[in-house]
Amino acid sequence: MRPLDVDSLNPALKNVEYAVRGELAIKAEALREELKNPDNRLPFDKVISSNIGNPQQKGLDQPPITFTRQVAALMEWPELAKLAPNVFPEDVVQRAHELQAEIGSIGAYSHSQGVPFIRKNVAKFIEERDGYPSNPNHIFLTAGASVGVSLLINMLINSPKAGILIPIPQYPLYTASLAQHSGVPLPYLLDESSEWSTSIQSVEDAVKKAQDDGITPRALVIINPGNPTGALLDASTQEALVKLCEKHSLVLLADEVYQNNLHKPETHTFTSFKKVVSQLKSPIPLVSFHSISKGVSGECGRRGGYFECDNFSEEVIALIYKMVSVGLCPPVSGQIGVDSLVRPPKPGQASYGLWLKETSAIHEALASRTHTMSERLNNLPGVSCVDSPGALYLFPQIKLSKAAQDAAKSAGKAPDAFYALGLLDETGICVVPGSGFGQKEGEWHYRLTCLCPGVDEYVGKLEKFHRDWVEKYGEA
Ligand SMILES: Cc1ncc(COP(=O)(O)O)c(C=O)c1O
Repeated sequence: MRPLDVDSLNPALKNVEYAVRGELAIKAEALREELKNPDNRLPFDKVISSNIGNPQQKGLDQPPITFTRQVAALMEWPELAKLAPNVFPEDVVQRAHELQAEIGSIGAYSHSQGVPFIRKNVAKFIEERDGYPSNPNHIFLTAGASVGVSLLINMLINSPKAGILIPIPQYPLYTASLAQHSGVPLPYLLDESSEWSTSIQSVEDAVKKAQDDGITPRALVIINPGNPTGALLDASTQEALVKLCEKHSLVLLADEVYQNNLHKPETHTFTSFKKVVSQLKSPIPLVSFHSISKGVSGECGRRGGYFECDNFSEEVIALIYKMVSVGLCPPVSGQIGVDSLVRPPKPGQASYGLWLKETSAIHEALASRTHTMSERLNNLPGVSCVDSPGALYLFPQIKLSKAAQDAAKSAGKAPDAFYALGLLDETGICVVPGSGFGQKEGEWHYRLTCLCPGVDEYVGKLEKFHRDWVEKYGEA
């Protein structure tokens, strides 16, 4: 018997990289373990996970929305409504009864595409958001947005010469899925000098380069609001992008999981691509992704999300259905989470007051942290940081001196990874180096989340580390 070794496995898997849970995150876990030893000599007393948008993670302070959890609790164990008759508000009990009548036990497989009743509720949510019809039969509930993205990429990559246009910097799910399915990433650069906006010319340049290289671009990925940049697209850019997809016969993959994370709603509003495509009566095939992991729901571990297909033929929808049915169904608890996301309590209902208070507090905390952190980072020598209007992150640029770059080289690390490892070693703060998302050659960044409590102490540590670094290696 030959031992099972990596070289005998699917070679595509070797190329998969996912920095958000990469070297830094692995080291952070090891340090967390080390801290449990009372004799540890670490210069900090806690590890701060600023590497991943996981709002309810231990150590962070975002609480779950009570309404979502109460509905979930009654779905898990319907007896609870009788055993604790005064605990659950009337609208929660009603919601759970309604869902139980549609779903039955959450321990049973559901329809592979997702519970039809919940899909109808998703369609109503989209219609109310955008003012255009949505077809529940073209909506697929998923175990988080990631599963949908990976499935669509798998379906679209029809040859090793097929590529997908992805923003740089990007959320590494895209490069990881492309590597897994042997597709070619076709990077287009976002413009940091204008709040990480998307330039049509840079997408056109990427299409042209692909064609020159003999690669067929199949789809354009847009992450709006952006990860890691937090950028929000304006309507005219969205329209131009839709037209660009028409011109080059591209499928538009619109990752809109942060649509409810808006920190400057007076000036920066979200418009879905579904609305833009509908307004323009564009024939482009559009897939829009949403998730319960982000927004104010933050239910990352529950694994729930959906994607909606527009301008897809029934034949293609049937093929997607065939593929999702191989996995039987998305987690029913995640589907119930999606139902709560798209049907929050309304004014006049018993849960509304608390829901409003909880969601407003989360929005306010995120907006104020994002702003304070970017302001303070911008005051550091050699650091510039766009004050993100959306999502959960900042992506500051750090100028690194020749001495710092040489030290990184001797350590066998990319300069930004070297910086991030130093930050982790000295402060316990875990961020992700920009190289994990892609960045312009010769530039260095890191991504940190805006989810950590105690901003003063937290940013204070970042500032001290950076100033010490500049003292050690000099200004760039
Ligand atoms: C842009 C973007 N898309 C998709 C996802 C996947 O989220 P989930 O699979 O938890 O829904 C994430 C997670 O961080 C993300 O940032």
